Amino acid sequence: MTSASLPGRYSEVYAAAGRDPEAFWLEAARALDWSRPPTRAFDPGSGPYGRWFPDGELNACHNAVDRHADGARREQVAIRYDSPVTGTKRAITYGQLQDEVATLAAVLADLGVTKGDRVVIYMPMVPEALYAMLACARLGAVHSVVFGGFAANELAVRLDDARPKLVLAASCGIEPARTVAYKPLLDAAIGLASHKPDACLILQRPQCAATLVDGRDRDWAEAVSAAAAAGQRAACVPVAATDPLYVLYTSGTTGKPKGVVRDVGGQLVALAWTMPNLYGVAPGETYFCASDIGWVVGHCYIVYAPLLHGCTTVLYEGKPVGTPDAGAFWRVVAETGTVCLFTAPTALRAIKKEDPRGERVADHDLSRFRSLFLAGERADPDSVAWAERVLDRPVIDHWWQTETGWPIAGNPLGLGLLPVKHGSTCVPMPGYRVEILDEGGKPVPAGTMGTIAIRLPLPPGCLPTLWGSDERMRASYLATFPGYYDTSDAGVIDADGYITVLGRTDDIINVAGHRLSTGGMEAVLASHPDVAECAVIGVRDTLKGEVPCGFVVLKANVAREAAEIERELVAKVRDEIGPVAAFKLALTVPRLPKTRSGKILRATMKRIADHEPWTMPATIDDATALDEIGASLEQRGIGGA
Ligand code: COA
Ligand code: AMP
Repeated sequence: MTSASLPGRYSEVYAAAGRDPEAFWLEAARALDWSRPPTRAFDPGSGPYGRWFPDGELNACHNAVDRHADGARREQVAIRYDSPVTGTKRAITYGQLQDEVATLAAVLADLGVTKGDRVVIYMPMVPEALYAMLACARLGAVHSVVFGGFAANELAVRLDDARPKLVLAASCGIEPARTVAYKPLLDAAIGLASHKPDACLILQRPQCAATLVDGRDRDWAEAVSAAAAAGQRAACVPVAATDPLYVLYTSGTTGKPKGVVRDVGGQLVALAWTMPNLYGVAPGETYFCASDIGWVVGHCYIVYAPLLHGCTTVLYEGKPVGTPDAGAFWRVVAETGTVCLFTAPTALRAIKKEDPRGERVADHDLSRFRSLFLAGERADPDSVAWAERVLDRPVIDHWWQTETGWPIAGNPLGLGLLPVKHGSTCVPMPGYRVEILDEGGKPVPAGTMGTIAIRLPLPPGCLPTLWGSDERMRASYLATFPGYYDTSDAGVIDADGYITVLGRTDDIINVAGHRLSTGGMEAVLASHPDVAECAVIGVRDTLKGEVPCGFVVLKANVAREAAEIERELVAKVRDEIGPVAAFKLALTVPRLPKTRSGKILRATMKRIADHEPWTMPATIDDATALDEIGASLEQRGIGGA
């Protein structure tokens, strides 16, 4: 790579991390408070590929909350909660945050939670969800947040894998068109799961009251006010830097979600590095990440990174459009004095669709706003160019995965903005040695497409393993290309070292920035009694990037109306995976296109659906099957043969 010719400090910093990773990361670790500072940055001998800061000891909540609350930032706002769906705004100072978290941690401790225990959090975007995450971190417990758009079955799978002592949930989440009652979903999930938590702490929201189960469920507000009245506060428990801070489940190719483990030391060091160097944000400034705490982006940039860095974080319970209009983000940016906004390209597309000329931007005072960062899916050059035009500020695409826990590549604003190339996610961050490999695992020359792989070891902050399974970690990520982590993204690196991410090499699709497994949806369709076989593909969508489309072949003896079965299939995916899957299209076809060896030709089906040129595969078993797919799509106004 020829990044030495790039402007700014980037090349020098990236090279320093490559030359002497020990010195680089021990220096970066100085941004944190440690109860026992690390003397070594990396131990190559433990875990599937090594562990970071093996002899360090610290507490994440102390670093994110207490050191600010006990210091100069006590009166500074830590969290600005803005909820257009409930008409609420709240400002919570670091001092108040410390009180809330220390008290809630005492409640959790009272319910038996200790260091290393798992706690599942199933909550909407309310301040209490952040208190919950931080209270777990305070006790050295491991939180596992489950996104509210998942159905009971998905929650049950996570309960069985994480085996939490306690579940923290709210009575409901609020979507613009409806109130989503979480408690019945939680009750159903606990019913389905083999593992039963000892207790559930339920936050009753005024929009919907939950019925509590005697002996198991506790009322959040009552428990917290009793603890506060008794003056109960839990102290921060020091943990090993290699201990898990959280487990976050993400779609795997088998349909069984993977529990991505995040270790405390590596995560905090990496996040602390990014705030000034990648995002160009200073302590005391306001950072607004318009994601959800159920996703990795929310864990990192709504909660831990801004708080670690002594920033004010914005907690936004609303949508980019419809709450009430396409100016919502700009209003929040103006009112909170946000300097850096982070969102998904799909949100930008939604705003652009409603406000193509960007007129709503001018309604607000954006004088403090400096940059917009995008991630979660490919940022289409049209939307990036549109945002640059209407905002007149850097719009920076950056690439990462739940597994990595912080960006793999981006344009490091804090080190000096590099030339922007639309469609590219720019250059690798320190510690990420990114290469493009061919199918045999050999690096390819610049400009050649292949699988994007990261040479081991991964930098701090990336997953050290999968929950409870070093073996699955090795098999999923490290076995394909020995010596590398396989990102399962395809892409290309150009002669300047810029990385372009083109799409997944597995069955993961990205729907409105949400990562979903088509394999998981196929499993749901296949379990319908009338379905003989099925295939789900991601079809290009102008708003959501991709949406799933399922093709089903009915069993020979089925005499019912196909349309009725298709409706049942749509409802079944919503019921078993959740509304977030956005599964609205099930199409009945006489047969699935397959190769002579029986492999379903999903890639060709996708090309047809996306209106892309395609050729009849030489190995096809029955060519009429592809024509039937085209005809069925055309009938619904999608793609065509
Ligand atoms: N709890 C319950 N249901 C939820 C939910 C939650 N937290 N989040 C989404 N859903 C539901 C929605 O209500 C919708 O249900 P519906 O089928 O009844 O309409 C469904 O899940 C699909 O949601 P979504 O894909 O978000 O579509 P949308 O039409 O509601 O909104 C956008 C479209 C573009 C505004 C929205 O997808 C968005 O803001 N995306 C940004 C994603 C993001 O930040 N990703 C993080 C990665 S960086
Ligand atoms: P998630 O684990 O939900 O963060 O999803 C990770 C996947 O999203 C990656 O493997 C990519 O396929 C995709 N992705 C994330 N950010 C980008 C980006 N900036 N450009 C292209 N794809 C991206």
